[in-house]
Amino acid sequence: MTAFLFRSHQQSVIAKRWSGIYALAVYHPVATLGRSLRTRSRTLRGRYERPTLLPQVDWSEIFPRHKILLTETDRRNGNVSIGELAILAQAAAGAPAGSELIEIGTFDGRTAMNLELNAPRSCSIFTLDLPQHQPTQFKLMDGERQYVDKPSPGSRFKRRQHRITQLIGDSATFDWSSHYGKAGLVFVDASHAYDYVRLDSATALKLAAPNGVVLWHDYGVWNGVTRALEDLERAEKTGLRHIRGTSLVVFTPSELHVPRAEDEWRHQIEWSSSRRLRASGRIDQHVIAVEPSR
Ligand SMILES: C[S@@+](CC[C@H](N)C(=O)[O-])C[C@H]1O[C@@H](n2cnc3c(N)ncnc32)[C@H](O)[C@@H]1O
Repeated sequence: MTAFLFRSHQQSVIAKRWSGIYALAVYHPVATLGRSLRTRSRTLRGRYERPTLLPQVDWSEIFPRHKILLTETDRRNGNVSIGELAILAQAAAGAPAGSELIEIGTFDGRTAMNLELNAPRSCSIFTLDLPQHQPTQFKLMDGERQYVDKPSPGSRFKRRQHRITQLIGDSATFDWSSHYGKAGLVFVDASHAYDYVRLDSATALKLAAPNGVVLWHDYGVWNGVTRALEDLERAEKTGLRHIRGTSLVVFTPSELHVPRAEDEWRHQIEWSSSRRLRASGRIDQHVIAVEPSR
């Protein structure tokens, strides 16, 4: 019996590992090529498509490669693609030990489950969703009610959740203060309305730890998301980048990794961090965190 259970556990791990390999080595490159061919074909046919403005980057330039596992790979309308899921899993695998991983917009819990599967064991996962009948702070977009109107959020992980804490509320009015500065990864994927994306983005930047990463979904897909992220970048010069072949946008505190002569480096970091982060209220955490190691 024990041997049988061990073997079926091993098989399940192998299947999850293969899903991770397939997503990054097959699905993602094909999807990237498909996107670029589609755009070219539309241009040739004279169909105007508003170009996205954020600079593009390959996921592998941002996240070190880890051996990831993927579960619940079947995709429902509202889920990220399997390629995007794999990139989120890479981001989770690289999250600092002991940090929080926070998702805004649970839906059926597929992404939360995969964050949990790949994050270091000492990390905790939090995911927030809007209850069906709760009045909202801002108007939702037409067409997104279908994702809100469901019997309960996180239906995929209900029976098996371990390190996932489910939060319930409107992202605009939820009290996030106990999580500020603790997140190694924040994933913003709730309402696609412009006002929500601007506010959720400001929240995400406050939630992120000094070495934390923020990812957004649906850039170039929902107009509210696209405009909000481009306006955010125009206003705050946070260095947002669009991950090639996906609708993901990423914020990394990249200047923290640039080696400089110590004094000059320290001055630069403090200056740029305080300028860039004044609006997001993360100044203190950032300055404390960039003490050079001796
Ligand atoms: C596109 S789905 C999220 C998909 C999910 N992140 C995934 O990867 O499978 C958007 C989710 O955001 C939730 N949502 C919409 N507006 C929200 C709000 N104001 N506050 C919290 N959650 C919200 C919806 O109920 C829905 O479940």
